[in-house]
Amino acid sequence: MSIIEKAASRIDRQRSAAPASPVAAGGLNDSAALHPVADSPSVTVADTVIHETVHAVPVAPVPVNEQTAAPKFTTRKVELDLARMRETGMVTAASGRTPLLEDFRIIKRPLLQRAFAARAPGGNPGNLIMITSSLPGEGKTYTAINLAMSIAMELDHTVLLVDADVARPSILRTLGLPPQRGLMDILVDDKLDMGDVMLRTNVDTLSILPAGTSTPRATELLASSTMSNLVEEIANRYPDRIVIFDSPPLLLTSESRVLASHMGQIVLVVEAQTTTQHAVKEALSQLEGIDNVNLIYNKTRDIPGIEETYDYHYG
Ligand SMILES: Nc1ncnc2c1ncn2[C@@H]1O[C@H](COP(=O)(O)OP(=O)(O)O)[C@@H](O)[C@H]1O
Ligand SMILES: [Mg+2]
Repeated sequence: MSIIEKAASRIDRQRSAAPASPVAAGGLNDSAALHPVADSPSVTVADTVIHETVHAVPVAPVPVNEQTAAPKFTTRKVELDLARMRETGMVTAASGRTPLLEDFRIIKRPLLQRAFAARAPGGNPGNLIMITSSLPGEGKTYTAINLAMSIAMELDHTVLLVDADVARPSILRTLGLPPQRGLMDILVDDKLDMGDVMLRTNVDTLSILPAGTSTPRATELLASSTMSNLVEEIANRYPDRIVIFDSPPLLLTSESRVLASHMGQIVLVVEAQTTTQHAVKEALSQLEGIDNVNLIYNKTRDIPGIEETYDYHYG
């Protein structure tokens, strides 16, 4: 049985062992912990706990005329509403020891270890991390933002969060910020530099590269050589940053596969109870030949009072 088949059948066993409806949850079942899913040490399953859906509010939007008037190489700054993020259950520095914070502490550890490890000849930079999934709605953006916040809180780590899900960009919206220029604008306008559109935030160690102005050619541009060059430029320019790419789902577009081929590490978000074994298998087969694929088992049941019994294992 291949690694992919083992991983997929393990996930399927976990799904079938769990009660069908979240409402019917009566205890912490096997699916509510982090599990290795395959023989490969780089393939793991993690859980995050279900929290309230995020409803962020706009904070200090940058006026449009200010955006267009921004001088070259002056990175603009946006304010994240950290209190609102905290209220809606997202990771922030002042969150205290929440189960979500603990989940991401465990999820990020192996990613950080590999981020700056010596690169195999011809290997991609480990600090480029792609967050993807089989299908939309599995929690890519949620994971990307929380992982970015969690890593940005570490001493010595700066993070660039890139919204590369260009067909359905949602990082700024989830953070309560208005649309801004970004990735797409750099790809269509060779006079624009990354520094022109990158956003600094009130979390000093976190900056954001938004998806930018929508264009019908968005997914095509994502797979273009211009994008490949841009990813290389990001890697060369920020070798000491963790760069997290919120990306399109693997089963809907082939562009995701192209993007994955430039990444040092992949995080495949699997929505518990919903994603079928077939979808996970298909997604993993899209990633065949790509190193360092990690699975995050997301949206497992939130069972009040027993979070502290969560147990985590890495393969
Ligand atoms: N672990 C989680 N806990 C609570 N809500 C979550 C979790 N993961 C995702 N969500 C919510 O599920 C919805 C879809 O997640 P999102 O990250 O936007 O998916 P994707 O980016 O994969 O399309 C959002 O409303 C998000 O806030
Ligand atoms: Mg998304």
